[in-house]
Amino acid sequence: MIDSYEFNKIMGAVLGTLLFLMFLGLFSSSIYHAPKPKMAGYALPEAAATTAAAPAAVQLASAAQIMASADAGRGAAAAKQACGACHAFEEGAASKIGPTLGAIVGRSIASAAGFSYSSSLIERAKTDKVWDYDHLNSFINNPKGYASNTKMAFGGDKNDGRRGDIIAYLRSISPKAPPVPAP
Ligand code: HEC
Repeated sequence: MIDSYEFNKIMGAVLGTLLFLMFLGLFSSSIYHAPKPKMAGYALPEAAATTAAAPAAVQLASAAQIMASADAGRGAAAAKQACGACHAFEEGAASKIGPTLGAIVGRSIASAAGFSYSSSLIERAKTDKVWDYDHLNSFINNPKGYASNTKMAFGGDKNDGRRGDIIAYLRSISPKAPPVPAP
């Protein structure tokens, strides 16, 4: 049988321990204070600043530049391979998938009789008028860049040397082609 004195001692010890733990809790939370987040959830890393200027688009070499050392013979072979499935090369020849490229240099854009051109090539024809060397250069380099909804399903030839050769070949099959401008 524990007497009341013994009982008080035990209760005192228990209370003291509880007080100590409470104090420890308060004390530690005052040291390790976690700031309340402004928003619920995890902070995700912010997207990299988008203010940095986008790299300037690489300037397309001019037709004069890429034609300076071009070779129409090499161009004939390249054109037959890259364009021949869709284009004939004789003036007045019937359209295949695309219109003939005979006499294309100096020809009005989107003017082959009976061919149903895309609206964007027809739109281009209003401002650019004829296929000069630089229009051909940019269209062959990037057909969709030149005429966004073009029907010409060709990814473009980014190789300056080969593009120069092909344009030199197109010039050789175009009786009314103007002289190539000096680079
Ligand atoms: C997959 C078929 C295809 C290939 C390959 C192709 N073309 Fe075309 N090309 C077309 C079509 C279709 C059009 C009509 C485009 C339009 O209406 O937007 C066209 C239009 C053109 C025109 C404009 C003709 C005009 O009357 O205004 C030129 C120039 C041209 N192509 C050059 C080339 C050259 C050069 C190559 C090869 C490097 C080539 N194409 C490869 C299908 C093709």
